[in-house]
Amino acid sequence: MNVFITRKIPEAGLNILKEAGCHIIEHTEQRPLTPEELIGHCKKADAVLIAGHTIIDEFFLNECDHLKVIGLMSVGYEHVNLPAATALKIPISNTPGVLSKATSDIAFLLMLAVSRKAFFMHRQILEGKWNFFEPTANLGIELYGKTLGIFGLGKIGLELAKKCRAVFDMNIIYHNRSNNKEAEKLVNAQYVSLDELLKNSDVLSLHANLTNETMGRFNLELFRKMKPSAIFINTGRGGLHNETDLLYALQNHLIWGAGLDVTNPEPMAPDHPLLTMPNVCIVPHIGSATVETRDAMAKMAAVNIVAGLEGKPIPNIVNTEIYS
Ligand code: DGY
Repeated sequence: MNVFITRKIPEAGLNILKEAGCHIIEHTEQRPLTPEELIGHCKKADAVLIAGHTIIDEFFLNECDHLKVIGLMSVGYEHVNLPAATALKIPISNTPGVLSKATSDIAFLLMLAVSRKAFFMHRQILEGKWNFFEPTANLGIELYGKTLGIFGLGKIGLELAKKCRAVFDMNIIYHNRSNNKEAEKLVNAQYVSLDELLKNSDVLSLHANLTNETMGRFNLELFRKMKPSAIFINTGRGGLHNETDLLYALQNHLIWGAGLDVTNPEPMAPDHPLLTMPNVCIVPHIGSATVETRDAMAKMAAVNIVAGLEGKPIPNIVNTEIYS
């Protein structure tokens, strides 16, 4: 069985495929594949492991409808045309759960870094502006006893909430499509309306999936409803916020600061004004970028692929409908 892999992945994943007798073809160049190249490689493969956010559109799926399984090395799957894959009965699998801790670490890191203007202060040193003790200059804000609001409280949000309670004794409020009973029990999370979430959050962290409903949801209208002292964190998907509106909200003090692991678009332009603002911290989509998590993701993606190739139930299939 031939498996095409779109980028270099951790050995832990490769080993599972090799042990299952797969022949692996890897695209290891430091550049994304063109759609034509992807199709060319996949035509010769029985399965493909998509490492990253390569677009899997209807055209690709029609050209490669022989694939026994498409294994994503990501929890998000908004880059895949799921209805088209389902119609063609091509299983799509993802890697949920294993990246929740690492991604929530980045949300926590950004929250704290923004609250103490850490990235900006680092840049000041690079610019030779160490500054001596100035009692009122560049002060941060503390998080003790403040309120964390979560939009889309699932596994990653729960991990963040646990840390925020343990370290800063923060209150947790959230807005979801449905109640998260586990979070209500474990961290005393309180379900609130979207308006209440915006009005009461000292830190507002986004963890929702990117869908037609959530696309661009965090826009000026919503930023206007937030506290002027609030910190906005997005480690979910850049498409959840409108970046022009976010810049406006920060420049006009509608909110206090922002921390982003995801931008809209990605990559962000290196001269983007958000990158130089004192109360903004941005990292380049590194939520899952730890040795442990990437190993776990690669293993999970490989296990899904092997199951698909062997005609067994795929543990983390997204389009379960194809089994019915
Ligand atoms: C995911 O798993 O969806 C992360 O964004 C990394 O790609």
